[in-house]
Amino acid sequence: MCGIIGYTGNKDAAPVLLQSLKKMEYRGYDSAGFGIIHDKSIQILKDAGRIDDIASRVSIRTKKGTTGIAHTRWATHGGVTQTNAHPHVSCDTKIAVVHNGIIENYQELSSKLKNEGHRFASETDTEVIAHLIEKYYRIEKSPLKALQSAVKQLKGTFATLALFDDKPELVLGARKDAPLVVGLGKGENFIASDIVSFISYTDKVAFLKDYEIASITPSKVQIFTFDGEPVPVVSTQVAWEASDISKKEFAHYTLKEISEQANTINAALDQDEVKIVEFCEAIRNAENVRITASGTSFHAGILMRYLLAKLAKIHAQVFISSEIDHEIDLIDENTLVIAISQSGETADVLEAVKKAAAKGAKIVSLVNTVGSSLTRESKVSLPLNCGPEIGVAATKSFTSQLAIIYDIAFRLAGLDDKREQLNDLGRYVEIVLNQGERIKEIAEKHKLAADFYFIGRGLHFPIALEGALKMKELSYTHAEGLAAGELKHGTLALVDAGTPVIAINPSDETYSETLSNISEMKARGARVIAVSDKDNELYDEIISIPSVDPAFFPIIEVIPLQILAYYAAVERALDPDYPRHLAKSVTVK
Ligand code: G6P
Repeated sequence: MCGIIGYTGNKDAAPVLLQSLKKMEYRGYDSAGFGIIHDKSIQILKDAGRIDDIASRVSIRTKKGTTGIAHTRWATHGGVTQTNAHPHVSCDTKIAVVHNGIIENYQELSSKLKNEGHRFASETDTEVIAHLIEKYYRIEKSPLKALQSAVKQLKGTFATLALFDDKPELVLGARKDAPLVVGLGKGENFIASDIVSFISYTDKVAFLKDYEIASITPSKVQIFTFDGEPVPVVSTQVAWEASDISKKEFAHYTLKEISEQANTINAALDQDEVKIVEFCEAIRNAENVRITASGTSFHAGILMRYLLAKLAKIHAQVFISSEIDHEIDLIDENTLVIAISQSGETADVLEAVKKAAAKGAKIVSLVNTVGSSLTRESKVSLPLNCGPEIGVAATKSFTSQLAIIYDIAFRLAGLDDKREQLNDLGRYVEIVLNQGERIKEIAEKHKLAADFYFIGRGLHFPIALEGALKMKELSYTHAEGLAAGELKHGTLALVDAGTPVIAINPSDETYSETLSNISEMKARGARVIAVSDKDNELYDEIISIPSVDPAFFPIIEVIPLQILAYYAAVERALDPDYPRHLAKSVTVK
């Protein structure tokens, strides 16, 4: 769960690597490092800390050399120290590597290599890759062959890049179960975990598949299998633009992404008709429908289950992807698995779909990152079209998922008039976004709160879960999301004088019953902040949302909860874009 980038070209590599690495800071941000070839040797500059601090500490911008690799780390093996930061080098320091993933057999490999005389400097699993390549380079004399031999020894997941000081224009990259994509430039080429890292230089990409190696120089890109068979380099133009990854006038990416939702919801609805019909038919024809996802996307999955049941009378089960081993017995060739993921690279989600596919299940998906591993595992994959999401906490990707889920549910229910109304949602989203200042005041008023409870019934229950998750991720404050009726079965014991309760209570069929639950909490001293289109004397505060067709409340009401969590973080002087300990794309199990 790290970000890696390699560059070879006609510019100084250091500033390019720095800029590119910063775009991937969302993938991990406890340490960073650079390896740059200059004067026939590899300079390694690395440390623990945030990229900008490290870059100025090591004066990265002044470094010379036109070929290099870089890494932003989210520690798995070995503490957060300078020694454990990547790149890692071979004994003779002539080879340097960066790596995203986990090498499961690193202990076995490192003891073997140590017996053969290799000296290790770090506690990481990654360092074995550098020593393995060194071992085979001595025998094979070819970087490509050495890397092939090395990766064949590795068990686990990896996207890894290697530099050789005697090949000053070459970067090699290998992938197995972790993302790696080549950026095709003019007189320069890139290889990275994510397109966003190099999109300001080129929008032409070639996706690497598992068990493939890319070899890039300024003028040439070649792809091979781990066995050395050449693979055609297929160039794809991505629709993202450099401006999509700038913060523009916003203080944080998270706020920018929240603010984009009036447009991104519409973009999500712009689907290829043939593909979305095929997606719906797959649901209609399946005996057994299972939805799977992690984190925020899992909450979209719960809403999908509710909507399919409520509108289309289709029974679907939803499970957390990391629980696949406890679901697998109920999955067979009559099962349709719907996977939902912003990144399309979440290891838990990929493992779930691979295990389901191995049992004969058909896989379809909703994914933001076109070309990601999940799109490749899917029979049909519908893109979220929300552009790059940089803030670690998912915001616009969630409402894009919901928009497509609504479209699918309405199609399956034959509710064409409702489908048309989806196109008007942007207007209502704007109204909610205009309440930013009011929500900021509420966040300020509750900045000392130790706990928040979010409640909602039916379609509002997954939104309560999502509101609580946003609050935890962004403000590091304990928060729980509950089905409103469940509160009295235990959690009510925690409600005390002044405890903030966010009640999602728009005027639909859940209104009166949720109001009863609100009364129960008021009687225990709770301070109720309602998200609703209808005021009530029981509310201490209200965040007003527009009166829309009740079916659409969830997609509107989640936006104030995102804004509330954002300002809760800002009030606590935290960085909402990069919450501690978290990463956006969790490519490890
Ligand atoms: C990480 C992110 C969450 C995200 C989850 C699933 O935990 O921090 O924001 O919801 O992964 O990610 P996916 O890309 O599969 O939607």
